[in-house]
Amino acid sequence: MHTLVIPLNLIKKLLKMSKILIINKKIKSYNSKINVDGDKSLSIRWALLASQAEGVSKAYKLLKSEDVLSTLNCLKKLGVKIKNNKNCCEIVGKGLNGFNYKSNLLLNAGNSGTLGRLLLGLLVHSNKKIKLLGDKSLSKRDFSRVTKPLQKFGAKFFFKIKNKLPLSILGSKNIKGINYFENRGSAQCKTSVMLAALSATGTTYIKAKKSRNHSELLFKYLKIPIQIKSNKKYDFINIKKPKKIPSFNYQIPGDISSSAFFIVLTLLANNSKLLIKDININPSRTGVVKILKMMGAKIIFKNKKNYRGEKVADILVKSTNKLKAINCPSELNSSAIDEYLVIFLVAAKSKGISYFKDLSELNQKESPRLNWGSKILNMMGVKTELTKNSIKIYGQPNLQIKRSIIIKDYLKDHRVFMMSTIAALTFGGQWKIHDKDSVNTSFPSFLKIIDKINKKKYEVKK
Ligand code: S3P
Repeated sequence: MHTLVIPLNLIKKLLKMSKILIINKKIKSYNSKINVDGDKSLSIRWALLASQAEGVSKAYKLLKSEDVLSTLNCLKKLGVKIKNNKNCCEIVGKGLNGFNYKSNLLLNAGNSGTLGRLLLGLLVHSNKKIKLLGDKSLSKRDFSRVTKPLQKFGAKFFFKIKNKLPLSILGSKNIKGINYFENRGSAQCKTSVMLAALSATGTTYIKAKKSRNHSELLFKYLKIPIQIKSNKKYDFINIKKPKKIPSFNYQIPGDISSSAFFIVLTLLANNSKLLIKDININPSRTGVVKILKMMGAKIIFKNKKNYRGEKVADILVKSTNKLKAINCPSELNSSAIDEYLVIFLVAAKSKGISYFKDLSELNQKESPRLNWGSKILNMMGVKTELTKNSIKIYGQPNLQIKRSIIIKDYLKDHRVFMMSTIAALTFGGQWKIHDKDSVNTSFPSFLKIIDKINKKKYEVKK
């Protein structure tokens, strides 16, 4: 009898080969109601803060994506007890800096910049060395934007490649408040410093260009000593070390960044209407809605509620064929930063030339997204003018794609995958979109929801 010997390399290759999504048909007109997965920023923040609280905290509708699972895994390795059931996630906090672990611990942030950067803020007080690594995409991203301010607190960092993961952090028991100027509009940098401030003696003073303010709202809700003054461009935040953080339960609302893909799907589909239930509409996140409305979109917030300082509503959106180009005000950049890829699709269908500027941060994401946005539009037959920090998009209101388009080697950026899927469903053409699993980073239900709306299964090639 012959035994078939498969070379190890081939097995590894086969295992690595992710599935390809094939779309050859546009979406039919629909009238539907959906829920999207929980907000990623709030899910990660809840878990990190619950780990510093005293006692059991529970989260309902926590996002069950890879970024959040990486968060829970890192916390477990730091000695935190976690039960993650279908409907509820329970974290048993041991209080501020109550982590319990051995020296030279290895933590993996996977694909998540938010987790990697925020976690370092929490670790400034840990005086046993910890190594942090990430996947291929995260290992290309800049970490000096957080290690520099965290060094000022008294933490030490060791790099193999300057400013990149993997890195090691050695915290200190002697952490002192700092003055910090955050000038990119990055909530990750701001929050990393805010979390470090929880272990610092004295006051931490932050001047931050406006960015999403979930951390500030959670600090206020948890009665952590925080004071905030604001003008149009900046927030001035003072934080003092709290005596303790109380445990807290949280119902995570739907993610506006995930909703954005369905808002755009509906806008660009024929004669369709969609209601998206219970979405976080924090004004520091709704730039996408402001921009799309300026371009002629019909979007309404219904049943507005307040929840622990956050705003939540249902979003009603209807398709339109009266979209117009925009010269997008850069003040909206940080509140729409995760949504530009789908906004570019709307620009591709709008009358006139759209212009998006001061967007260098977009190339700092899971993939260089400004470049990828432009590349995909070009593959669709849309003319763009790209610079390092801006893009001009020449809209074609009657665009119908006839060609074949293959999307691959995009560092498995979940939002590049979802942008491509929405483009395929609304502009036509024959699309092969590789690495279907990348969607699990932020929005595991994405394709199921499309099937629900379209009542059809898409072909997935092994
Ligand atoms: C996030 C902040 C943003 C955003 C990311 C989530 C957060 O990043 O792109 O998806 O939860 O704080 P930057 O702060 O780097 O802009």
